[in-house]
Amino acid sequence: MSAGFQALIATALGDRDYEVSFQEITEADLPDLPVLVEVDYSTINYKDALAITKKGRIIRSFPMICGIDIAGKVISSQDEAWQPGDDIIVNGFGLSETMQGAFTKRQRVSADWLVKLPKGISHRHAMAIGTAGYTAMLCVQGLEDNGVSTNEGEILVTGATGGVGSVAIMILSKLGYKVVAVTGRAEHSEYLKSLGAEEIISREELDRDAKPMEKERWAGVVDCVGGKTLATAIAQTKYNGTVCACGLAGGFELNSTVMPFILRGVKLIGIDSVMAPISKREKAWKRLATDLDLNLLEKSITDIKFSEVPSACADLLEGRSKGRLVVKI
Ligand SMILES: NC(=O)c1ccc[n+]([C@@H]2O[C@H](COP(=O)([O-])OP(=O)(O)OC[C@H]3O[C@@H](n4cnc5c(N)ncnc54)[C@H](OP(=O)(O)O)[C@@H]3O)[C@@H](O)[C@H]2O)c1
Repeated sequence: MSAGFQALIATALGDRDYEVSFQEITEADLPDLPVLVEVDYSTINYKDALAITKKGRIIRSFPMICGIDIAGKVISSQDEAWQPGDDIIVNGFGLSETMQGAFTKRQRVSADWLVKLPKGISHRHAMAIGTAGYTAMLCVQGLEDNGVSTNEGEILVTGATGGVGSVAIMILSKLGYKVVAVTGRAEHSEYLKSLGAEEIISREELDRDAKPMEKERWAGVVDCVGGKTLATAIAQTKYNGTVCACGLAGGFELNSTVMPFILRGVKLIGIDSVMAPISKREKAWKRLATDLDLNLLEKSITDIKFSEVPSACADLLEGRSKGRLVVKI
């Protein structure tokens, strides 16, 4: 019998409510899946914050070990694709929704969820990237795949001080794009410039009712916010430009018109990280190993103790944190 270890677990309270608490569990409490991993680091994403503060309906079955991101090592594997000692990353695939998640010292996962950690990236940096950073890379690849090259014009990044936004700015500026960042927190303008944003605009400039088409400005957009901000960004996107929609931090609705699509050939691309196939994940992580400046990434990191996860989740949703929150498990 293995020794006990701490896990952050959501436990049902009747049919409609739940509570989240640290509990001691053993390997016997983990799911019956083939790869046992030692979780070294995790991170706090917007979705983790929604689940742990009970502000969003993320968790679909109880009891649930919370946390959507794992970086660690394989301890043992019943699948020959993985060997003890392999450095791995796992995210999405329903972790913390329908599958047991990351906030535990050990976890069992399916062999087809794992991505080998690229050389040169530590467990801590992998979680500073995390789902947010890997989603940022999927957005950058969405722009590239649709012909948005560095000489097409400016790229707008919304929700800029957040996890996805911060990493998107770093990657895009390193690749040579001119990045304009939208933030509701002007006090972080210098931080955003230090990541590579060339210009900062305020949230109010986009978070308003848009005209069907506005003055063309953006060659591409990475949108973490949704709602009115996304509608305005679409209305301002240049002929043949591409908008990658990945988030809903400002709202899930989208009131737009067909005009930018049929008169300017604007493309609206949906970005999903959760069920993305392994080949797409591997491609994105390989790019992150080369196209993200890890020294710059350090600027966006706040290290959090495991015991601080619940309060850090509340801070994230209240707009009191920025960049990437990394958790040593
Ligand atoms: N599609 C996917 O697979 C996927 C993957 C990861 C994340 N996401 C989604 O992407 C979004 C961003 O994730 P994240 O991890 O970057 O979250 P985050 O760290 O909390 O950042 C979100 C940012 O959005 C801005 N924001 C917050 N509330 C807002 C509001 N009411 N109106 C306008 N802007 C607001 C803030 O930036 P400023 O203060 O700078 O304005 C905030 O820092 C979330 O909706 C998340 O669920 C989706």
